[in-house]
Amino acid sequence: MSRTPARLAVMGAGLIGRRHIQHILAEPAAELTAVVDPGDAGREIAARNGVPWHASLRDLLAAGRPDGVVVATPNQVHVENALEAVAAGVPVLVEKPIADDPVEGERLVAAAEAAGVPILVGHHRRHNPIMRAAREIVASGRLGRIVAVNALFWLYKPDDYFGPAWRREPGAGPVFLNLIHDVDNLRYLIGEIVAVHAVESNAVRGHAVEETSAIILQFASGALATVSVCDTVVAPWSWEMTTGENPAYPQADEACYLLAGTEGSLSLPKLEVWSNAGPRSWWEPLQRARLGVAPEDPLALQIRHFAAVIRGEEAPLVSGREGLRTLEVVAAIKRASATGQRVILSPPAGS
Ligand SMILES: NC(=O)c1ccc[n+]([C@@H]2O[C@H](COP(=O)([O-])OP(=O)(O)OC[C@H]3O[C@@H](n4cnc5c(N)ncnc54)[C@H](O)[C@@H]3O)[C@@H](O)[C@H]2O)c1
Repeated sequence: MSRTPARLAVMGAGLIGRRHIQHILAEPAAELTAVVDPGDAGREIAARNGVPWHASLRDLLAAGRPDGVVVATPNQVHVENALEAVAAGVPVLVEKPIADDPVEGERLVAAAEAAGVPILVGHHRRHNPIMRAAREIVASGRLGRIVAVNALFWLYKPDDYFGPAWRREPGAGPVFLNLIHDVDNLRYLIGEIVAVHAVESNAVRGHAVEETSAIILQFASGALATVSVCDTVVAPWSWEMTTGENPAYPQADEACYLLAGTEGSLSLPKLEVWSNAGPRSWWEPLQRARLGVAPEDPLALQIRHFAAVIRGEEAPLVSGREGLRTLEVVAAIKRASATGQRVILSPPAGS
C-alpha cells in the first residue's frame, strides 16, 4: 500500500544532520522538505537537494508546517529547538543527548507529554538488528536470569581530535559523548539502572576532561554491570569498532558486551550464545551457537520509524522519557566520579 511520505525538515546540517538528510532522501516513507541551519553549509545542502533553506525554525514554521523535524543541532540548544517544534505541534526526532542537563530534559519531556506531541531521541542503536536480536534472546529466557554484564568502550581517539578546545573540557569526554549510547543499549537489554559507582582518570593526556572511567551499574533486576571506558588506548573492543554500524570505523571480529545468565551467556555484536549441553557446571564442556542477522543501517531504520510514529502507526522506540532516563544515568555516573560516592537514582517518573 503506498502512503504519502512524511514531510521532514532537518535542523542542523552538520556531521549527523547530513547523514539524516541522506537517509530521508533514500527513504520512500519520508520526504525532505527543508533544511534549517544558519550556516553557509546548510544553505548549500538545501540548494543541492532542491529544498527550501531557512535560518531558523521560526522562519520554517512561518513558511509552512512540516510533518516532523529532526533536531541535529549542538546539545546546548536541543531543548530550546525541540520546545519550539512541540509548541507548533510538530513531532520531533531530537539527537542524543536529549538535553545537556536532566532538569532541562524534564522540561522538554513534560511539555511534549502535556501537548501530546511525540518526541523520539536519537539513540539509534536500539534500531540495530543486532540489538533487536539480543533483546529477543534475553527476553526468551534462553540465558536464564541475567546476573553479570561486562561492557567495553576502548579505542584510540587521535591527537588531532583534541584540536578544538571544547573537546578537552569537562562535558566533552567519552562518558557523556560516547558511553551514553552504551548506557542506552544496556538499559534496553537489561532494564532500569538504580545505582552507579564510578572512578575516572586523565592520567595520560592530562586534559580537564576524563579519558578513562571504570563504572559499576546496578540494575533493578539485581544484575550488576562493569563498564570500562577509555579513549586513549589502541584496542578493538567497542561498539564502534566491532559492529560495522558506521562504515567510518574499521571493523574487528571481536566482542564489546558480554551478558552472563544462569543458563547461558551472550556476546555482542557476534550474537554468540554459550551454554552447557548437559548439566550446568564448570566441569562440563561449553557449546557455542552463533545467530546470524542481516545488517541494516539503524539510522535508516530510525527515519522509517519516525515516519511511522508521525502516521500514528508506531509508538516511539526511544521516547523523550527514555532518552531522559539514559541522560540521568550518565549524569549520575559523572556525579559518582566527582564525589567518590555511590549515586542512587530515583525511580523514573511514571514507574
Ligand atoms: N546519534 C549519533 O550517533 C550522533 C553522532 C554525532 C552527533 N550526534 C549528536 O548530534 C548533534 C549534532 O552533532 P554534530 O556532530 O552533527 O555537530 P556539528 O557541529 O557537525 O553540526 C551542528 C550544526 O548545527 C547548526 N546549528 C547550530 N545552531 C543551530 C540552530 N539554532 N538552528 C539550526 N542549526 C543550528 C550548525 O551550524 C551546524 O551546522 C549533537 O547533539 C551530537 O551529540 C549524534
